[in-house]
Amino acid sequence: MRNLDPFAIRPAVPEDAADLSTIENQIFSGDRISLRSFRRLLAQTSAVVLVAAVGNRIAGYAMALFRRNSSIARLYSIAVDPGHARHGLGKALLKAAEDAARHRNCVVMRLEVREDNAAAIRLYGASGYLPAGRVADYYEDGCAALRFEKPLTTSNREVQS
Ligand SMILES: CC(C)(COP(=O)(O)OP(=O)(O)OC[C@H]1O[C@@H](n2cnc3c(N)ncnc32)[C@H](O)[C@@H]1OP(=O)(O)O)[C@@H](O)C(=O)NCCC(=O)NCCS
Repeated sequence: MRNLDPFAIRPAVPEDAADLSTIENQIFSGDRISLRSFRRLLAQTSAVVLVAAVGNRIAGYAMALFRRNSSIARLYSIAVDPGHARHGLGKALLKAAEDAARHRNCVVMRLEVREDNAAAIRLYGASGYLPAGRVADYYEDGCAALRFEKPLTTSNREVQS
């Protein structure tokens, strides 16, 4: 196995928008977050963006969205540069997004994933996510989404959707 430089997870800052957009365009062929949207989301308190930094380069990111009066957080996007794949960045970003959701008193993390995205589905399964439905024709190209959810707490607090 290759030796890779260590990575660190940190909150994104507005200056990261261009690098995030570059990664987005490298990794996703459709349903991309635009540079303009990254700029807007980075300025919103309803979004948390975390980056995996290798030195001064961004090798991946995760974004969670929150709604007022809802205890369900949504993993809106997660992506890791293929050059850094399979070295734990995805799992660490996912955990950091879950920690951010817990910090905001959310009790569930919800996400949608393309049903043909085997790598991401494996990541979610290995991270404790449970199947929670299928949404036909969800993506730009007509692909269906699988919905997954993970309880973030073992307490009995009520879930407000
Ligand atoms: C999904 C993604 C974020 C995983 O990132 P990563 O840093 O490579 O993931 P990790 O190294 O943390 O892997 C954690 C686990 O996920 C699963 N996994 C990750 N990549 C996988 C692959 N290509 N094939 C099968 N399982 C995979 C494995 O269970 C892995 O654990 P293991 O390496 O001990 O077997 C990355 O492949 C990616 O950016 N894909 C393109 C963007 C995308 O599809 N995002 C999700 C949109 S919903």
